[in-house]
Amino acid sequence: MKPLKTAAVLGSGAVGSALLEELPRSGVRVLAAWTQSSGLAPPPLTDVDVVLLAVSDSAVAPLAARLEVGPAQLVAHLAGALELNVLKAARKKGARVGSIHPLRAFVRGRRQDFHGAAAGISGSDATAREQLKGLARALGMMPLETTDRSRALYHAAAVLAAGSQVALFAEAIRAFRKATGAAEPAARAALLPLALGALEKLKGQTAAEALTGPAARGDLDTIAAHRSTLPKDLLPLYDHLTNVMLRLSKDAGRKRSRNRP
Ligand SMILES: NC(=O)c1ccc[n+]([C@@H]2O[C@H](COP(=O)([O-])OP(=O)(O)OC[C@H]3O[C@@H](n4cnc5c(N)ncnc54)[C@H](OP(=O)(O)O)[C@@H]3O)[C@@H](O)[C@H]2O)c1
Repeated sequence: MKPLKTAAVLGSGAVGSALLEELPRSGVRVLAAWTQSSGLAPPPLTDVDVVLLAVSDSAVAPLAARLEVGPAQLVAHLAGALELNVLKAARKKGARVGSIHPLRAFVRGRRQDFHGAAAGISGSDATAREQLKGLARALGMMPLETTDRSRALYHAAAVLAAGSQVALFAEAIRAFRKATGAAEPAARAALLPLALGALEKLKGQTAAEALTGPAARGDLDTIAAHRSTLPKDLLPLYDHLTNVMLRLSKDAGRKRSRNRP
């Protein structure tokens, strides 16, 4: 399999900028870079091994349709939620297609790299998949294969692990402020070490092992006290998460008793 040695990066937002910075460091020469705000049409790209479409999800399919690409080239998007059929226009021109989705949150204007993140990889054929896995490794990521069939589920899991944590944290801040009268920055600062500490434990432990709090101790009286004071609209979320924690705690108990001599 021939490794990808030259690239074009289309889009210069959060992910496009990181690619422009990191590809040369990982041994891939960027021969063309383009962004829509230049007002120019995308340049001809038939000289590069891989065309990376680092544009907003809704722009991927229309941009792929405008590209001058051909056989022996690979056209890849970086969107976790999109299947490969959004690249069908490039496929019709003879290019192979794929996706390399970094499982990391990137923010515009902040310098970030890809090191240590996993990367969801899919491709129209085995070579495309192997080349994109090689590119992911060169950028410092751990490649994981995904398929179109499971793409939405894969992306839902990623959203549960990132944006949903932030939403949950926002609800914790709301309850904390109601209890203490603290301003938002003080409430956020008070709760953040707790949240980070809990997530940090997952580096070396399973979710069942890392669990803390009343559900982990089987303390149903404390859970009842929480339920009696929480805002009504927070109860469904609290109850759902408590049920998950009780299940995890039961799993951890079962594992402990299995391991007892
Ligand atoms: N941000 C993340 O955390 C993250 C993580 C993993 C994967 N991704 C994926 O990476 C891709 C890029 O996301 P991003 O976060 O870098 O987005 P972004 O920061 O919002 O940048 C979007 C880029 O798309 C360009 N664009 C917008 N509309 C366009 C159009 N109609 N035609 C051509 N170009 C257009 C923008 O150009 P102008 O700036 O010139 O307007 C900009 O360069 C997306 O597929 C996203 O799902 C993002």
